[in-house]
Amino acid sequence: MEKNITRFVILASFLLLFSCNDNKLTEVVEVPLPTKEEKITIGSPNDVKADPGSFELTKLSFSYDGLAPAIRTLTMETHYSKHYLTYTNTLNKEILNTEFENMSIEDILKKLDLNNAKLRQNAGGYYNHTMYFNLLTPKEITPKDTLAGSINKEFGSFSNLTNQFKGQATKQFGSGWVWLVVDRYGKLQVTTTDNQDNPLMKNALIPGTPILGIDLWEHAYYLDYQNRKGSYIDAFYQHINWEKVNENYIEALKKVKKV
Ligand SMILES: [Fe+2]
Repeated sequence: MEKNITRFVILASFLLLFSCNDNKLTEVVEVPLPTKEEKITIGSPNDVKADPGSFELTKLSFSYDGLAPAIRTLTMETHYSKHYLTYTNTLNKEILNTEFENMSIEDILKKLDLNNAKLRQNAGGYYNHTMYFNLLTPKEITPKDTLAGSINKEFGSFSNLTNQFKGQATKQFGSGWVWLVVDRYGKLQVTTTDNQDNPLMKNALIPGTPILGIDLWEHAYYLDYQNRKGSYIDAFYQHINWEKVNENYIEALKKVKKV
């Protein structure tokens, strides 16, 4: 009997030992150490430069985490240093040694052939993103001065403009932009364009000078908001630099008077 008990204790000890070893082996396999390549490093917007050419990136007035958590660091870094940079470099290559090389971006957009898809996409992409990054700010700024007066006069209130702008942005199907423009008569209007088109181009539903634009491509918000586009639109709207929109408005009105 004693022999049987001794045999049982020895067998149980072996089973326990192998069982512990198996568990240890499983733990090692299931938790691999991160590799060096998986580390994400965020740089500085000041280090991002376009290749030599006619157009340069607009300077971002805040660091990549400046709008977080509304627009998070990785979204801002990818949008500015990858998407915007690519539009700019491709535009510079496309216009090299052509009639467009020394033109302003506004003139290029007004004159380009819409069948020239590469120039259309990248000239639009450059102009649109330059406006987008210029008009974002970490501060909360509301419209005042000349623009505030015109918004109240033409939309009834700032709240009405907000509802119209956000409403059109929410309804925009697929990639595109929603704009606040000064039309050919000097009136403020909200309008939309698909892809990287904008109201300066020949196909605009409401031609005019953009003074504010929201990027509704998924690359602008998908990492942060996935399918919740409305939350991105609200976040963007909280970070508009209305002082700069006012400056754009004054300049756009001057162009209307010259026509
Ligand atoms: Fe974009």
